[in-house]
Amino acid sequence: MLRRLHPEQPKSFAFTVANQQWAEAQITKYPEGRQASAVIPLLWRAQEQEGWLSRPAIESVADMLGMAYIRVLEVASFYFMFQLQPVGSVAHIQVCGTTSCMICGAEDLIAVCKDKIAAKPHALSADGKLSWEEVECLGSCTNAPMAQIGKDYYEDLTAESFGKIIDDLAAGKVPTPGPQNGRYAAEPLKGLSSLTEHEAGKPEHNASVALAAELGDTVKRIDGTEVPILTPWLGKDGKQAGASAAAKPPKAPEPPKPAVKQAAEAKAKEVEEDKPRTLTEARGGLPDDFKMLKGVGPKLEETLNELGFFHYDQIAAWTPEHVAWVDARLKFKGRIERDGWIEQAAKLAVGDETEFAKRAKEDGTYED
Ligand code: FES
Repeated sequence: MLRRLHPEQPKSFAFTVANQQWAEAQITKYPEGRQASAVIPLLWRAQEQEGWLSRPAIESVADMLGMAYIRVLEVASFYFMFQLQPVGSVAHIQVCGTTSCMICGAEDLIAVCKDKIAAKPHALSADGKLSWEEVECLGSCTNAPMAQIGKDYYEDLTAESFGKIIDDLAAGKVPTPGPQNGRYAAEPLKGLSSLTEHEAGKPEHNASVALAAELGDTVKRIDGTEVPILTPWLGKDGKQAGASAAAKPPKAPEPPKPAVKQAAEAKAKEVEEDKPRTLTEARGGLPDDFKMLKGVGPKLEETLNELGFFHYDQIAAWTPEHVAWVDARLKFKGRIERDGWIEQAAKLAVGDETEFAKRAKEDGTYED
C-alpha cells in the first residue's frame, strides 16, 4: 500500500499548551544529541491530538527535534499506526481482519463499515464523522471478532452490535467498550470452569472496561489534559500542579488562566533571586573544559559560558535553587541532576579525575 502525504493539507500545526509541555518533557529523556529518539512519541501525540499526521505536524515535530523533514516523514510513512490522511472527526474505526477475527466474522464487520461509513477504507463518511480501516491482529483474539475504536477495544462483536456502536458514535454517544455479548472478560464462552469463587461480588465491568467507562473518553482527542505529565527522570514528583491521576479529565482544554500566569511570573521572579554566582569572563582567560562533564557537549558548554559559568568550582557550588535557575535556561531540562554535574564538577575542581573525564581524555570523545 502506498503511504504518502495527503494531497490536501492544513496550513499549520501546533500542539496544545499541555501537549507541548508533554512533548518537551519527553525530549528530556534522551541525552544531548539524541533528541531524535523522541520522534515516535511526539508523532503519536500529534496524531492523538489531531486524529492524523499532516505535513505541518510532521515538520513541526522535525523542527522540535532538529531533524530533517524527510527523516520524520520516513518514520511517519513507514509505520501503519500513523494515519497520513484525515480520519473521522468523531472516530476512526480499526477492524481486525486477521485469522481468529476473520473466522469469527470480521468480514461481516467490514461489510457494516462499508454500508454505514464509506465503501472504501480510509475514506470519510458523508458527514465526515467516521472512517475505518482493516488492521492486523490487535491481540484480542479470544474475543474475536473485535475492533479498536479510539483508545478502546470493542469485542465479541456481531454485525448487529457493531452497527449499533457505529450508530451511537455518529449520534455523539460513547458506547461502553469491552465484550458486547455479555462476557465479562476473556473467560470461556460457556462460563468459568475454574476460579469460580471470584464470580460472587465481582465489579460490574472488568478493569479495562471499568476505567474506560469511568473516563468516558474513548474517542476524545488527546489534548494533554488527561493525565499528569510524568517526568520522574527530572527528579520531581512527576505531577503537574493541580493534576491528579484519579481526577476525571476536563471535557475540553482551557487556556491558561490569569492566576496561573501570575503564579508563573512570581515563580520566575523567585527563581531570578536564586541566581548563582556568574562571571563575565573566565578567570585569567582560562575556562575549564566543561566537556569533561558527562552530559555536557560543545553546545551546552557554549550555553553555560554565555550564562557566565567558566569554572568547575562555580558548578560545584550550585545549590538546589541555583540548579533550578540554570535549568530554567537550558533547552533540555533535568540534565544537571540526572548526569550529576555538581558531583563531577566538585571532583574536577580539586584536580581529581572522574571515570568519564578520564575516558574522554584518553579517546578524545565527549558528549555531543
Ligand atoms: S485475530 Fe483479531 S485480535 Fe487477533
